[in-house]
Amino acid sequence: MSTSTFRAAVVRTPGGPDSIEIIDVPLAEPGPGEVRIEIAAASVNPVDLAVADGFFHALGVIDQPERTGLGWDFAGTVVARGHGVDLPVGTRVAGLVPGFDRDFGTYAEQLLVPAADLAVVPDGLDLIAASTVPLNGLTAAQIVDLLGDAPAGGDRLLVTGAAGAVGGYVVSLAQDRGWRVTGLARAADEEFVRGLGADFTTGAEPGWDAVVDAAVLQEQALGLVRDGGRFVGVRPNAAPAAERGISVAVVEVRPDGRRLSDLLARTASGGLPARVHAVMPLERAADAHRAMAKGGVRGRYVLRP
Ligand SMILES: NC(=O)c1ccc[n+]([C@@H]2O[C@H](COP(=O)([O-])OP(=O)(O)OC[C@H]3O[C@@H](n4cnc5c(N)ncnc54)[C@H](OP(=O)(O)O)[C@@H]3O)[C@@H](O)[C@H]2O)c1
Repeated sequence: MSTSTFRAAVVRTPGGPDSIEIIDVPLAEPGPGEVRIEIAAASVNPVDLAVADGFFHALGVIDQPERTGLGWDFAGTVVARGHGVDLPVGTRVAGLVPGFDRDFGTYAEQLLVPAADLAVVPDGLDLIAASTVPLNGLTAAQIVDLLGDAPAGGDRLLVTGAAGAVGGYVVSLAQDRGWRVTGLARAADEEFVRGLGADFTTGAEPGWDAVVDAAVLQEQALGLVRDGGRFVGVRPNAAPAAERGISVAVVEVRPDGRRLSDLLARTASGGLPARVHAVMPLERAADAHRAMAKGGVRGRYVLRP
């Protein structure tokens, strides 16, 4: 890195992995309440593939005149801090950058973020593993908040996509709130799902007290909820229409430094799975996207700037 610029992976004209470019971006200093992070690891998530593809540009959710940044979560080290920030330079942190419509992202060497959105990475958890937690761990925690505690006599929860990043965390976290969880996943995922303390199925019958739809099966998943049950989805702009007295909620993840600290601590202690599929240099972001697009990947690709 030169002293005045840093490298970032962006899309100017979105069109899939081939449209991802590495560019030099001017370095900026943190404002009040902000820190500048030297990113050590940024995970590749399904949302990044949709951004690079132009899906959200076509919806009108992204309207960037020059370039769109890629990447939502990261782990790295504080290298500069703005007025009012206590976090010392050199602290290892992880976090989440929310929202679609931005010209910066975590696929980059440097990042400015509000210090309040960060969590300190505990000793014993490496930054590669830590970078896989913020987006999907917080999404799952916020899904479980939407779900609430399991009611007495109605505690059977089905989690679709239970072997995925969001689904795997939901399977774990929902049990803390009293739910008896069954994970719907591919046949090859049985050992992983049962290892999280859940029952397992590759094909569910209707009648569940609640369904969390991390596989984005949408109306098909809603159809598995009993009359008057609960459904939580993951597509904010495309919730299935409520029916049969079912409460329908959709998660829209937001940063939460305190919650993230807890998720990182649980990852460090082995209470939540740390799932890294492969580590690649930033320059190979497009290859990571191509590999993810084929499906069947378990654990995250992690980019190292
Ligand atoms: N709203 C928000 O704030 C928010 C935040 C984070 C994520 N999300 C969204 O949540 C979704 C899940 O994200 P993720 O990172 O967990 O994705 P992921 O790791 O790819 O997990 C999805 C899982 O679902 C499985 N699956 C898909 N169809 C299935 C089926 N018919 N039966 C059984 N399993 C099936 C996939 O298996 P295969 O790989 O074998 O297909 C995969 O294991 C994505 O759409 C993401 O964009 C939303």
